[in-house]
Amino acid sequence: MQIHTNKDLSTLNTLQLRSQAEHFVELHSPHDLLAVLGDSQLSKVSWHILGGGSNLVLPSVVKGLVLKIANQGRELIHEDQEHWFVKAQAGEVWNEFVQWTLQQGYWGLENLSLIPGTVGAAPIQNIGAYGVEVKDTLWEVTCFDLQTGNLKTFSNKECRFSYRDSFFKQEGAGRYLVWDVTFRLPKKNTLHLEYGDIRKELDRQHTEANPRTISRAVIHIRQTKLPDPQVIGNAGSFFKNPIVSKELRDSLLLKHPDLVSFPYQETQFKLAAGWLIDRAGWKGKKLGPVGMYEKQALVLVNHGGASSDDVWKLANQVSLDVKNQFGVEIEPEPIRW
Ligand code: EPU
Repeated sequence: MQIHTNKDLSTLNTLQLRSQAEHFVELHSPHDLLAVLGDSQLSKVSWHILGGGSNLVLPSVVKGLVLKIANQGRELIHEDQEHWFVKAQAGEVWNEFVQWTLQQGYWGLENLSLIPGTVGAAPIQNIGAYGVEVKDTLWEVTCFDLQTGNLKTFSNKECRFSYRDSFFKQEGAGRYLVWDVTFRLPKKNTLHLEYGDIRKELDRQHTEANPRTISRAVIHIRQTKLPDPQVIGNAGSFFKNPIVSKELRDSLLLKHPDLVSFPYQETQFKLAAGWLIDRAGWKGKKLGPVGMYEKQALVLVNHGGASSDDVWKLANQVSLDVKNQFGVEIEPEPIRW
């Protein structure tokens, strides 16, 4: 295990922010983690856990130690008549894992194709897209408890998933390091096509719906709507879609008949933050080296050389304008170190 000092993190975060870690270690095996936990110097400094860096806003200097999760491996661990149980190590690249499941003939993750990041990061914010969330097929998560060094397994229920949220992003933040994730994938082929664009894309390609064609359609849709982080720095959706009462949504709808909203848990509504930001005039607009993406106003992009201060200045201005215009608070999705 090699400990790096003043490690450049600018290529390890998809927003491409300039950032350096005081100390940095890659964890390939439990042995590496136990060595860090047993190191009298490293165990005293603050720790940050890094996956694919696709949902992070990094400061120019990260104090303490960055643990880059790099364990690899994926396997079918069990199957019964109705399900495949597939386990992946946290350091696996999410989309490579999804594509591997499809190649093996296991279904259920196709709508989550091409989401940036790692397997270990997926449960933290309950990644979701095109009508599916990771919580729908996640069976259990094994973590290292950084306070005790012991392994602890969380069932789906114990992860306390909700829209873009989990126990690991709330009370468990900083304490549990996700080491592997097991999915329970249904053998009964249940396709999720209700998200309008998928059906449209399959029709355009003149293909029938199956898990592989859905994956291809999702990849195509994402590539046309969302900026490629290799080309232009971004962290996907920068804000969560706000959840509001029926009363607020109804009063907004009177003033803005084209407001985009979806029912959420019986009495509430989820508003499209992209629509709010777009109508607040921020789509394609820049502030210094950052801006809101021209094709999807929900995505904050780094046009080059941005710092975390630039990011927060723009994010605060966008939230303020949305609040002033619609009376709705929008909350950033990425984690701030
Ligand atoms: N819209 C606008 N202007 C915009 C952007 C969007 O009017 O600039 C409107 C669209 O017309 C659409 C609605 O807003 O009717 C919703 O937009 P979209 O379908 O693109 O989905 P979203 O709500 O913006 C969410 C996720 C995405 C996920 C897509 C597809 C959140 C915060 N974002 O976006 O996730 O890919 O649905 O399911 O929930 C991510 O988390 O990084 C991410 C990309």
